[in-house]
Amino acid sequence: MSDQYAVIGNPVEHSLSPAIHAEFARATGQDIAYGRMLAPLDGFATAALRFRDAGGKGLNVTLPFKQEAWRLADTRSDYALAAGAVNTLKFEAGGIAGHNTDGVGLARDLKDNLGCPVRGRRVLLMGAGGASYGVMEALLRELPRSVVVANRTLDKAIALVANFEKLHKFAALGVIARPYDALAGSSFDIVVNATSAGLAGGMPPLPREVFAPGALGYDMVYGRRTPFMTFATECGARSTDGLGMLVEQAAESFFIWRGVRPATRPVIAMLRKA
Ligand code: ATR
Repeated sequence: MSDQYAVIGNPVEHSLSPAIHAEFARATGQDIAYGRMLAPLDGFATAALRFRDAGGKGLNVTLPFKQEAWRLADTRSDYALAAGAVNTLKFEAGGIAGHNTDGVGLARDLKDNLGCPVRGRRVLLMGAGGASYGVMEALLRELPRSVVVANRTLDKAIALVANFEKLHKFAALGVIARPYDALAGSSFDIVVNATSAGLAGGMPPLPREVFAPGALGYDMVYGRRTPFMTFATECGARSTDGLGMLVEQAAESFFIWRGVRPATRPVIAMLRKA
């Protein structure tokens, strides 16, 4: 029987992960089956352990279970520890290993697919929820020139920055929290939207000048053109959604499970065409 994997979430029916992993498996010749698991909101751990006990090898974990997956794990990667969240579980003989591949996915998409590496660049990260916690460690490891975390609720941005200052070895980096109205007059090379504003058809109140010449506006949402992407383009910046991040984080999970790194560009191209 093929090794069994799945994405677990609630909701999960629109997840692209089964299609992505099926394509990775086909391209690398790995014998896996990858399904979709809807867990009840109060039943994540039971569902995950049942899957493992039936022989499952690993799970991708999506909303709203990433913190619960963190608690379920016996060991946690540095990225998972920093994020306080786990999106990849690997069931091993010695226990449950928890990983978080979201940040690596974003950093790889920026560097390898978009030609916009974080290193040496000024980054504006909008939002201070789970999505921002998930990517911050990987962004910092790429050695940006600075990172400003902007959030509507400033206290949450301050808490996020404090969390990473506490953990971090890169004390020399400028990592600061700001409200949106304090961004006037500042400009950035990479502006990442990690807020959920786009899902409701909105965007954070950004001044136009935040986009430096040649800047990239990156929305972590995928499958739709968000008001932020339109705004970035109107301000003269390049803009993209988060489809590349989705595929790159999946590739990192696949590597953790299988020890094989699949090519991502053909899969991104396939999904863009679909
Ligand atoms: P996630 O786990 O997906 O990051 P979350 O924890 O609910 O979701 O966080 C959502 C983020 O989007 C928060 O930073 C939120 O700002 P607040 O902390 O001030 O609530 C941000 N957000 C949501 N809608 C927004 C909007 N219309 N404008 C600006 N920020 C918004």
